[in-house]
Amino acid sequence: MKNIAVIMAMDSEAKPLLEKLKINPDQAEKIDDHLPMKVYKTQYHQHNISIIISGECKRNKVQNVGTAPAVISTITAIKDFNADFIINAGTAGGFKKRGADIGKVYTVETTVFHDRRIPIPGYQDYGTYKSQHDIAKKFATLLGIETGIISTGDSLDMSPEDEKLIESNLALLKDMEAAAIAWVTDQYSIPTLFLKSVTDIVDGEHPTEEEFFANLKLASENLGEKLIELIELIEKI
Ligand code: ADE
Repeated sequence: MKNIAVIMAMDSEAKPLLEKLKINPDQAEKIDDHLPMKVYKTQYHQHNISIIISGECKRNKVQNVGTAPAVISTITAIKDFNADFIINAGTAGGFKKRGADIGKVYTVETTVFHDRRIPIPGYQDYGTYKSQHDIAKKFATLLGIETGIISTGDSLDMSPEDEKLIESNLALLKDMEAAAIAWVTDQYSIPTLFLKSVTDIVDGEHPTEEEFFANLKLASENLGEKLIELIELIEKI
């Protein structure tokens, strides 16, 4: 039995998972009176599962995407819910030149940041903070999916500077949370698996934000299916 925490940014990404686990979306608990994150707790396949979602921004009434909320969710998972296995599940942009396709789900072997550029000796590697996740390949094989490198930044679009770093790291995927979550779990040495479903092709012809919303439902459904399969497999590691 494990204490598994599933860290997710958006309600719509989590909807299919909640449906599969027969969880009522209206029955979330808050993690703190001041913070917008919410948690759903359940048991599945003898594991304790906490699904932590970043919640809504109190000022802008949109979902709390990005690295800062993801860090709070992760630290809460560890300190309040004793998580000993962390899954970051969400959507990502994909690069078609590396084989990414809309709706395809991947595990992640390497996380890296592309928007923490600090050109001071020693700080360059701290900024990019590349971390390896050895369990990704094993789970990719068990799930029958591929694995790749994800690059994280706090913007949905991609500046020329971001693009240079993403390219130099040969990233297959681009998101707004993974490397920040990896930084936290690295401090605590907690095994972390990233499951990412592609909503948009970053190097394609369509505007990212349009493609993102057009494919969010499909990508989230595929993500939910693989998440259930993954949780059912966790005993087998
Ligand atoms: N999440 C989904 N698509 C994304 C993209 N293109 N960039 C960053 N995060 C994303």
